[in-house]
Amino acid sequence: MAASSAPNVRAAEKPVMLVTHPLAAFWATAIGKKVVMAVTGAIMVAFVLAHMLGNLKIFAGPDEINAYSRALRTLGQPELGYGDALWIVRVVLLTAVTLHIVAAVQLTRQSWNARPVAYQYRKNVETTWAAKTMRWGGLLLAVFIVFHILHFTLGAVGFAPGQYRDLHVYQNLVAGFSVWPVAVFYIIAMAALCLHLDHGIWSFLQTFGWSTTRNDARLRTISRIIAIVIFAGFVSVPLSVMTGLVR
Ligand code: HEM
Repeated sequence: MAASSAPNVRAAEKPVMLVTHPLAAFWATAIGKKVVMAVTGAIMVAFVLAHMLGNLKIFAGPDEINAYSRALRTLGQPELGYGDALWIVRVVLLTAVTLHIVAAVQLTRQSWNARPVAYQYRKNVETTWAAKTMRWGGLLLAVFIVFHILHFTLGAVGFAPGQYRDLHVYQNLVAGFSVWPVAVFYIIAMAALCLHLDHGIWSFLQTFGWSTTRNDARLRTISRIIAIVIFAGFVSVPLSVMTGLVR
């Protein structure tokens, strides 16, 4: 009798297998997702700043910016192979973008589930235009990134056959922005990026705990200045091609 009941007792005592890795448990919380958004956002802001500065080399002429593009591929040699450093950056960025979007979607779902009925007195809730456009602006930026890689990295769209030349960034930029709807799309996307960063930078400074009631206005101004500098730096390229300053 004792022998036959033993397995049941053991089964009942078996602990419930709730394997929660600390990182998975952190990710499951709203604050965890906000921290992931802040860290990945900061990584992307650093990339976007560096990329904008790199693009400005177009004003130094074709040799300068084309050499810069080659230098990005030979970075880390001989320890790394040709293009390896660029691949590391791509993997980091892709991971950051994916985590940023997944966290944003899940946070949005959580807030909708918590409040299925919209606020009735939304006008009284302090918010900015930049804050209100985070979701739609973010979606536009995701579409932009896909188009941008197909355009300037692969030359698969926006160029006449044979027009796109690998490592000829200067010529590709001039040819690419000579198609005005494409140039206009870039300018609109950069305006969306500017709005996204205006709120996003301030938001991640808050998540990191750097905002206090005393310095909040200053942090908002710093975020706005960074967003405007990035916007101006990026749009200077399509605008210069459109106006014939760069050709
Ligand atoms: C007017 C704005 C922009 C211009 C003119 C521009 C131009 C370029 C060009 C010419 C390349 C190819 C560089 C090369 O092959 O060496 C490139 C690559 C890239 N750009 Fe931009 N870019 C702009 C905005 C952005 C923004 C806002 C982002 C991100 C949010 C971005 C993300 C990337 C990425 C990830 C790559 C590398 C893709 C790869 O090689 O895998 N770009 N960009």
